[in-house]
Amino acid sequence: MQLADSDLLRTEGFVDGRWCPADDRSEVAVVNAASREAFATVPRMGPAETTRAIAAAAAAFPVWKRLLAHERGHVLRRWSELVREAADDLARLITAEGGKPLAEARGEVTYAAGFLEWFAEEARRAYGEIIPPHQTDKRLLVLQQPVGVAAAITPWNFPAAMIVRKAAAALAAGCTMVVKPAPQTPLTALALAALAERAGLPAGVLNVVTTDAATSPAIGETFCRSRSVRALSFTGSTAVGTLLAAQAAATVKKVSLELGGNAPFVVFADADLDAAVEGAIAAKFRNAGQTCVCANRFYVEAPLADAFARQLAERVGGLQVGSGDTDGVTVGPLIDERGLAKVERHVADAEARGGTLLLGGHRHPLGGTFFAPTVIAGATSEMLIAQEETFGPVAAVFPFQDEAEAVTLANATDAGLASYCYTRDLSRAFRVAEAFDYGMVGINTGMLSTPVAPFGGVKASGLGREGGRHGMEEYQELKYVCLHLDDDVGASAARSR
Ligand code: SIN
Repeated sequence: MQLADSDLLRTEGFVDGRWCPADDRSEVAVVNAASREAFATVPRMGPAETTRAIAAAAAAFPVWKRLLAHERGHVLRRWSELVREAADDLARLITAEGGKPLAEARGEVTYAAGFLEWFAEEARRAYGEIIPPHQTDKRLLVLQQPVGVAAAITPWNFPAAMIVRKAAAALAAGCTMVVKPAPQTPLTALALAALAERAGLPAGVLNVVTTDAATSPAIGETFCRSRSVRALSFTGSTAVGTLLAAQAAATVKKVSLELGGNAPFVVFADADLDAAVEGAIAAKFRNAGQTCVCANRFYVEAPLADAFARQLAERVGGLQVGSGDTDGVTVGPLIDERGLAKVERHVADAEARGGTLLLGGHRHPLGGTFFAPTVIAGATSEMLIAQEETFGPVAAVFPFQDEAEAVTLANATDAGLASYCYTRDLSRAFRVAEAFDYGMVGINTGMLSTPVAPFGGVKASGLGREGGRHGMEEYQELKYVCLHLDDDVGASAARSR
């Protein structure tokens, strides 16, 4: 693979400021998501390399945390500039290993740079508090302090943005970090580390350990069992997040989890139909339906349901499937055969339970892991697609009768990440936003993610928030300082009057 800046194609892990192979020199292949051909290798690292990376992060912590906040912010800002300058190369890496269309990959790079910029600024706003004391001879202060070493386990669907969403917040707070990127997308992570190094990040502050799917759990366990790791941040499935939380309990560390969703997309009869269909395309087909905030269940008020489904199918029929590096392609491949099998299972189940296939419903003739964008009408709550996140380019439309039913159906899941509602009625918009059991609600929009707002879920969708002014809290501890004054200032002031 050729990059304009060939130095960004890194194929070694990054530990303590050094680029290094696995101890046993073993490697794992990186596969092009569209062609399924291996085009690079990275080290298959394990617990030993991870333990060294944690030790390096622990050694770097006392110096990094003592820098002035604006000095840490300066490095993050420089990193963001370098990320923007390298946008084309990063996008090409994202598309090659993850499969998303180049235009979307460029959008992800901009999104990623936005987190670096945001937290470069937030570093200076780690304000504490002064509390009015309970006694005249006491002064009460609250300090915000970095927790120490943080570990991040990041997903393949946003291989750049999900790393910096965590790393920028952690580093701004004064923590150091070890990242384990998804086995499918290590090259983007390594390129980001190369840019961080260029930005002047000291050795050990950010470390990247690469590995394969089979060894990933052992690295996760190493993070969880380590007493040096004081915060763990994970983005991925609810099953893995639950396991990590249980493992991390033994060392009582902060855990933030951004887990699966099953987003409802509710369209009321008073909505602007064209806008709702456009929002549906954005919320469902971004990254071929492989985002945690993807709309999974389209609930449409009965009088509008047929028109919505027809117009959606027409619009989806215009999407162009293909390799992400081909001009005009809007839907790339799925990440792997397992993802593809799940999508097939959901579609077959919906058909078997009486759903009407309006479009697609099968593997794409391109082969590999491509799936034809699909629209299903007449979906019901019994279908798998209502109960599980599909993570693929399939939109199922469920009719509903009234607002109360829409809210009940929308909330009838363990997941609670993103949700969407289309209505022109402002009072209804407020009612629904307040009634939805979700961490995020988009009203009349299918795109709600931004570095400046808190991203995260409730219920089985996770713990904690990323981005926004709350994102740094995952990497901070409050310290309460109670200061006893030798002289009782209050009493002596009263005496002198
Ligand atoms: C995700 O799918 O986990 C992240 C999506 C986003 O940040 O918009």
